[in-house]
Amino acid sequence: MRLTVIGTGYLGAVHAACMAEIGHEVLGVDVDAEKIALLADGRTPFYEPRLQELLTRNVGSGQLRFTTSLREAAVFGEVHFICVGTPQRQDSPAADLRHVDAVVDGLAPHLRGSCLIVGKSTVPAGTTSRLAARVRALAPEDTDAEVAWNPEFLREGFAVEDTLRPDRLVAGVTSARADEVLRRVYAPMLDAEVPYISTDPATAELVKVAANSFLATKISFINAMAEVCDAAGGDVTTLADALGHDTRIGRRFLSAGLGFGGGCLPKDIRAFMARAEELGVGPAVSFLHQVDEINARQRRRTVDIAREMTGGDLAGRRVAVLGAAFKPDSDDVRDSPALAVAAAVHREGAEVRLHDPQAMENARAVLPQLEYAPDVDKACEDADLVLHLTEWIDYRRIDPARLAQLTPARRILDARNALDHPLWRAAGWTVRALGRPQ
Ligand code: UGA
Repeated sequence: MRLTVIGTGYLGAVHAACMAEIGHEVLGVDVDAEKIALLADGRTPFYEPRLQELLTRNVGSGQLRFTTSLREAAVFGEVHFICVGTPQRQDSPAADLRHVDAVVDGLAPHLRGSCLIVGKSTVPAGTTSRLAARVRALAPEDTDAEVAWNPEFLREGFAVEDTLRPDRLVAGVTSARADEVLRRVYAPMLDAEVPYISTDPATAELVKVAANSFLATKISFINAMAEVCDAAGGDVTTLADALGHDTRIGRRFLSAGLGFGGGCLPKDIRAFMARAEELGVGPAVSFLHQVDEINARQRRRTVDIAREMTGGDLAGRRVAVLGAAFKPDSDDVRDSPALAVAAAVHREGAEVRLHDPQAMENARAVLPQLEYAPDVDKACEDADLVLHLTEWIDYRRIDPARLAQLTPARRILDARNALDHPLWRAAGWTVRALGRPQ
């Protein structure tokens, strides 16, 4: 099939590459000419495992091409995937749908014949029907263009895997024809028995925000338990293991620590609350305020413990920060808990030296006032305190006995509960964490 993928950020670039990989002819579209030039050259604009391999193969074979022209896209595709960002608005917690609207406005007047526009971005419930009206108003009269919603559940760092082998596909459609077209697009996955849920657009839109709200709630729940563990002398990792054995609960997303960040969970729960208010059901999801607040609390608590560990005052202290990305295997620093803590510690007068295996450039763009170290040793040299803020595998492989020779103070705060604490303690380190006995 001939597909277009409009918006080539994490979601779009990966979707475009994966759709080409499963045999479609794909045209990727973006307003950012520089990004398009890079992608057209078969190079990935961000770090995502396996994406480079897929781009090289499919750009090389001509199966995947790129353009900045929506007009070209309108003529090319029988299915148009909208994958642009829906960030939080500057002036409110609601989603900013400017980019989604701009795609529809730019695409619709050039559509021809019969085609399907499929939104994948995370949007407030009701967006599909609003966009369908917009398409009807803007598309040429002889065009038969429908709008459907097919939310994406990929995780950064596993984006290719999640796209090619999703837990489920959800299609919000208003006609049997749209359903049939989407089933054809995903036929190779349906052959592999991926569950396919066909529903109305409002339900499809809600599945996505409900899923992210549930995941955020799970994380904040265990973080709340971590604080109680600290007060009661319990161990939150053992608690999570024990809870996780109950198959109704499950262990995943019960890792307590610095909390959630990134371009999705934080803004999605806020946009969901804003949309629920508009729909007159704000109180039904008001618990999400608590979820957000517990999450913010983890960042404050981390800074508080850091201050305690340096004798009550961070001013003038040398603090090594390990991790900048919002999670490992990503170079994304959007709403990164690690960067928020690094910035707060720096504001209190500490001299911060930061290291991250992939996200250093992105971090420097946001926080140029910090020092950036080319490796862990340089970051930790003579540090009064080491903060472990993103649980990269590289940090788990650090030999604490060796690092101790560079860092005489031997104090580490493992805000991700990911290091082998007995090993570090045996090497002479004072180790603190969230929700763990000291
Ligand atoms: C999230 C969802 O997991 C995806 O299903 C969804 O498609 C995506 O948002 C999206 O809306 O596009 P992502 O933001 O890539 O994916 O990251 P996650 O793996 O969900 O992690 C989110 C944050 O939660 C990270 O900061 C991570 O460190 C934190 N986290 C995760 C915890 O603090 N504890 C956990 O147990 C798990």
